[in-house]
This record gives sequence, structure tokens and C-alpha cells, in this order.
Amino acid sequence: MRFVVTAGPTREAIDPVRFISNRSSGKMGYAIAEAALAKKHQVTLISGPATVPPPRGAEVISITTAEELYCAVHRSLRHCDALVMCAAVSDYKPAIRSDRKIKKRKSGFALKLVPVRDILASLPKRRGYLVIGFAAETHDLKKNAKKKLREKNCDAIVANDVSGTKTGMESDENEVVIFFRDGEIKRISRAPKKNIGRELVKIISKMWEKSLTKKSW
Ligand code: CTP
Repeated sequence: MRFVVTAGPTREAIDPVRFISNRSSGKMGYAIAEAALAKKHQVTLISGPATVPPPRGAEVISITTAEELYCAVHRSLRHCDALVMCAAVSDYKPAIRSDRKIKKRKSGFALKLVPVRDILASLPKRRGYLVIGFAAETHDLKKNAKKKLREKNCDAIVANDVSGTKTGMESDENEVVIFFRDGEIKRISRAPKKNIGRELVKIISKMWEKSLTKKSW
């Protein structure tokens, strides 16, 4: 199979030295890429600035902003059987990027933010590849994940709780619940992200086999 995996955070510049971003380390996406490579799948890894080195054997496309991620994903879809959107996209960017460093002032000031494009929501409804989204939640995990599954038209969504420090963002471990389009729910209990990556690749491969059987009818 040909996997396109997105990983890590995106960054939106405020000025030449400051940006808006999030705590994503890239570990979960890299673990999925590594697990897919170990099973001899082809992997394009589109990554924001991560804290870990990319697995050997992946075609790595480095991005910084949500807009760059958007363009890289759309370019990669021509050669894709499964898109795994593990990247933690910064939902907003400053309305204006200052070319010069913003100088300190005595008073506070407001920074105007505008939304970035939603990549999953921009994908065509009819397509020849699987789409696996992620849902980073601090509360109402099931409700929010199911809403994202529906609204972003994913085949499955992998939800994780990002409110703690033991699992989720930055941690080496994770615990996830996968919601499928047909209503099925699978839980993977707390384990190293590398193990979760292997489980997810198994699940996605099975989904792909199932979709091929359907297509051949
Ligand atoms: N995502 C995307 N484009 C964006 C933002 C998010 O494609 N502009 C994708 C993420 O890569 C992930 C899924 O959408 O697969 C859900 O991301 P998440 O951050 O959990 O949710 P948001 O859509 O950003 O919504 P909220 O911040 O309100 O939870």
C-alpha cells in the first residue's frame, strides 16, 4: 500500500522570531510511518517541525505552515491508498505577519487571528483512498470524535485524550479509541506509541483489503 502520513505541529509566524504552534512532537505520526515501512508499505511522511528523527525509508516532505501542509497533502494524493492525518494543525494564523520584530510595549495588545484551511474537510467526497483522521480531545472525547468523523468525512478517526502528560502529545505512550464510519468502535489501551502505530497499520491494511473486495463487486 502507499501511505501518506502527516505528523508533527504546524507553525504560523507572528514576526521573524515568534510563532503560534502546539505541543505536538510528531512521535505518533512517525511511529505509524515506521510501522508501515516495516510492513514494506511505501510511505510519504509530510512533517512539521518534530522532536524525533524520521524513520529511514520514508520519503520526507518538510513543511512549516498549515498552508504548506495543505498543498503537500493535495500533491501527494495522486499516489495514495491511505492518508493518515496525524498532524496537529494550528487552526489559526495571525491576520498579518510582521516583517520586523514586534517591539515590546508598556501596554498589552491584541493579535488578530484568522482561521487556516481545514485539510480533511477539503478532500473530495468520492475518492480512491482511505482517510484516517485524528482527534485530539481534552473533554467529551466520544461526542467530539464522532462529530469530526462525520463532518470531515473520514473513514475512521483515531481519538486521543490530550489533557494529561502520561499519554497523548509529547509523551512516548498513547491510548486511543478508533471510531469507524460504519459505527464500529475499537479501543487500544495504553501502550508505547510504536506499538499503537503497528496496531493502526494493521487496522488500516484490513480496511484497505475490505475496500478492495467491495470495489471488485
Ligand atoms: N485537521 C485538518 N486541517 C485543519 C485542522 C485539523 O485537516 N486545519 C485535521 C487534523 O490533522 C486531524 C483532524 O483534522 O486529523 C482533527 O484535528 P483536531 O485538532 O483534533 O480538531 P480540529 O478540527 O482542529 O477542531 P478542534 O480544535 O475544535 O478540536
